[in-house]
Amino acid sequence: MVDIKSKREIEQMKEACHVTALVHKEIEKVIKPGMTTLELDTLAEKVIRQNGGIPAQKGYPSYQKGVPNFPGSICVSINDEVIHGIPSGRVKIKDGDIVSIDLVVEKNGFHGDAARTYLIGQTPKDAKKLVEVTKQAFFEGIRYAKVGNRLGDICYAIGDYVEKNGYHVVKEFQGHGIGRSMHEDPGIPNYGKPGKGIKLEAGMTLAIEPMVIQGKPDILELEDGWTIITEDGSLAAHYENTILITEKEPEILTII
Ligand code: MF3
Ligand code: CO
Repeated sequence: MVDIKSKREIEQMKEACHVTALVHKEIEKVIKPGMTTLELDTLAEKVIRQNGGIPAQKGYPSYQKGVPNFPGSICVSINDEVIHGIPSGRVKIKDGDIVSIDLVVEKNGFHGDAARTYLIGQTPKDAKKLVEVTKQAFFEGIRYAKVGNRLGDICYAIGDYVEKNGYHVVKEFQGHGIGRSMHEDPGIPNYGKPGKGIKLEAGMTLAIEPMVIQGKPDILELEDGWTIITEDGSLAAHYENTILITEKEPEILTII
């Protein structure tokens, strides 16, 4: 069941999304070689709490038995790490890295979810294109995020754009509805068929998140039970925003 948010709920949710955007802004300002990923995590948690939010990823349970809850406020995934990298005091950001930061803020009982990928200094050939294609894939997708269209129109547009640029989307993970819960219906794969899936309605709030791999699309999970890496060691990028379907253009709630 896809939840339709009321006007009042949307106002509350916008505050959560605003804090998510603020945190990304702060991270963008300070991220540089030599910093540990734990320092970024500490900064994120501070900014979230100063703005009346809760880091929703911290303590998030794994669906796998025996895997500890996610320990960080943000996911930090470097180079061949695709998503869900765990912040660590032993991992330093280096010149040439591409660093994806994914974070979810809860405020007023609602969630805001967004991810960005940063290029640090002199990055390898094509890393910039990978990051730009991943971001643009989101914007290609939301061109179809309109009342009366179907979810598959968005999914298809994302996957088609990525593949036409010679890259691959991750098929094992997907975007999602979002609201009082971090993950709500519908699931939003980064591939699909135009004209298929649920009809989009005003008041739906969706987290749309292309996860893109430069090489082969296969992925592996690390021993930690969280970090997802590319099997072939090629680079991966992630870009995500929480959006609102309206009677007109979609609103992107996690960009300020
Ligand atoms: N932000 C992620 C998403 O888009 C969730 C990460 S899993 C967590 O769905 F454990 F880190 F919360
Ligand atoms: Co998400």
